[in-house]
Amino acid sequence: MSTLRLSIIDAALNLPIRDDVNLLEQCLSANLVVARSCRNGNCGRCDSTLLKGRVQLRNGLQLEGPTTIALCISHAQSDLQISQLPLIKSPSHWRCQWQSSSQLRLPAGRQIPPRKGDICAILFENSVELNEIADISGRDIHLLNACTNSPANHSVSLITIDRDHQGQYALWREHQHQRQTLWAHINHATAVIAQAAYQQNTDGAHYHIEHMPKG
Ligand code: FES
Repeated sequence: MSTLRLSIIDAALNLPIRDDVNLLEQCLSANLVVARSCRNGNCGRCDSTLLKGRVQLRNGLQLEGPTTIALCISHAQSDLQISQLPLIKSPSHWRCQWQSSSQLRLPAGRQIPPRKGDICAILFENSVELNEIADISGRDIHLLNACTNSPANHSVSLITIDRDHQGQYALWREHQHQRQTLWAHINHATAVIAQAAYQQNTDGAHYHIEHMPKG
């Protein structure tokens, strides 16, 4: 292992990095919330511009800047200069119309839809179901698996999440002095996105994130 430097031009950051951990993991460890989904170089979510320097991809191929690289499969081979890091600036959640157990409709006018292949969670009033976006046609989202729940009011929130979303946090709902755990064993970033989506509900409930004790 050797220590190299990563300059992120548009964030005015210069970080020490290692050559034995991929660049996505190292950005996340530095609290840079980079967009990602597949973590295997296929979805393009974490694509960034390598301005200078050399990286080695997971398959052994070496690339030199200037070029585009997927951070999730790139390991530094020299000091690097990167720009256009796809930082997540807002939570990824959409309030959708319920069409059927495997089809949702995005709201009109939303600029950036989720993508085919994204891992997602469907937030029902009393539970959360994991799913995957099988396809998108126009405003219609086709889910890979049929939901087992259905919403009472023909609308439901969808959030896109990281495949690796497990962690030490839980999200719970408090309504009329009743407390209910909605989603447990998730990481903090996932809990924050789900909380933001649930808080758009106008049901008078409060949504809280709690750290779960180990064991
Ligand atoms: S290409 Fe999908 S997360 Fe990197």
